[in-house]
Amino acid sequence: SYAEVCENVRDFTVAESESGVFLGCGALHLYGPHLAEVRSIVVKPEAKGQGAGGRILRALLEEADDHGVPSVCLFTRIPDFFFHFGFRITMDRAALPDKIYKDCQNCPRLHACDEVAMVRGPIPRVAVLGPSRVQDSDLVPIQIPFSGERH
Ligand SMILES: CC(C)(COP(=O)(O)OP(=O)(O)OC[C@H]1O[C@@H](n2cnc3c(N)ncnc32)[C@H](O)[C@@H]1OP(=O)(O)O)[C@@H](O)C(=O)NCCC(=O)NCCS
Repeated sequence: SYAEVCENVRDFTVAESESGVFLGCGALHLYGPHLAEVRSIVVKPEAKGQGAGGRILRALLEEADDHGVPSVCLFTRIPDFFFHFGFRITMDRAALPDKIYKDCQNCPRLHACDEVAMVRGPIPRVAVLGPSRVQDSDLVPIQIPFSGERH
């Protein structure tokens, strides 16, 4: 929806040709310091197979690294593309409760999902959405970058 576009547009990274023509885009959604998700990665049909998708994905993974987020997940119908970048399939979707509570709960395909869940890095031990199944002591401390004087 338009509201979702407004909410999420800052998550997007764009790939352009040397002359500034749009080639494709992808988004990194941060659930918290424990988990991020690669979403909506797409390259224009005429630009496929020339490296733009890989460039976008690497930029999103660097962004997760810059934020110190160790685990990146995604749901996809083309796992082979993501194998190239260190993602592996996880058979247990319940291991990603944040993703389930954010998107799957309201998805018409909840019980007929044809996407594969993948993760790069460790399976998170904590979740921030849905009923909490973890001890507070397992929560990752949030590190907020702070450059000014603390008051
Ligand atoms: C998937 C997609 C983003 C890939 O973009 P791209 O620019 O064509 O990919 P690249 O040229 O950067 O390819 C990078 C590597 O992945 C491989 N690859 C690309 N598409 C692949 C696919 N569908 N399956 C398996 N491997 C694939 C390439 O061979 C290349 O491998 P190499 O580094 O060994 O040469 C693009 O095909 C696309 O927009 N698809 C439609 C939208 C879609 O399905 N998005 C995924 C939603 S989860």
